[in-house]
Amino acid sequence: MTAGSHAIEVRPATARDVPLIEGWLNDPGNPLWQAKDLLQALSAPAYQLIVACDARATGNNKVENAVPVEQANAQTPLGFALLRGVDNEWNLLYLLVAPAARRSGVAEALLQWLQSNIAHEAGSLLLEVRCGNQAATALYKKCGFVEQGVRPRYYEPLQVGGQREDALLLGWNAVKLNKN
Ligand SMILES: CC(C)(COP(=O)(O)OP(=O)(O)OC[C@H]1O[C@@H](n2cnc3c(N)ncnc32)[C@H](O)[C@@H]1OP(=O)(O)O)[C@@H](O)C(=O)NCCC(=O)NCCS
Repeated sequence: MTAGSHAIEVRPATARDVPLIEGWLNDPGNPLWQAKDLLQALSAPAYQLIVACDARATGNNKVENAVPVEQANAQTPLGFALLRGVDNEWNLLYLLVAPAARRSGVAEALLQWLQSNIAHEAGSLLLEVRCGNQAATALYKKCGFVEQGVRPRYYEPLQVGGQREDALLLGWNAVKLNKN
């Protein structure tokens, strides 16, 4: 798929991807996840870890905004999604795009891939997002997620001395979407 300035390819992650995405994990919105957790998830059947790559970032032909890593190539991740599933109900645990690659359609490509490949047969995708995370909320709504509720004071404060933050529950259901 092509989105923004990127030709984006989405695929299941491998252990080789984790060191490349480790540098983005210092995310104040979701501080609990570390590289070792992603590696564990790779070998756990209930989990899915997928990455989006810049399909055109080969050799000297890197596109604008490609992640600045040594020897960037078509396998260099631009973003990833981590899910846990039970009975075709999938919880999106983590979605993160490299800061240099944002606003290029990477997250949208990851969600579209999940909707087409993971939750397509009567499956559903569920997630929580900080009420103040306007970028993520706009992304999910653009991708067809609908509000299902609020978990009051669910998240730790983003700053020391700050207030706990509500979580917005969002869901996407393949059957409902296909009937519309
Ligand atoms: C939220 C995040 C995943 C978006 O990734 P992205 O690759 O930049 O998003 P996309 O380029 O695919 O954007 C798709 C749509 O999402 C919305 N969106 C994305 N970033 C936005 C922003 N900063 N402000 C407003 N809307 C935004 C827009 O509707 C956009 O469509 P448009 O470009 O046609 O306007 C990214 O900013 C990120 O990694 N943030 C930190 C981690 C995070 O918050 N994860 C989600 C936790 S639940």
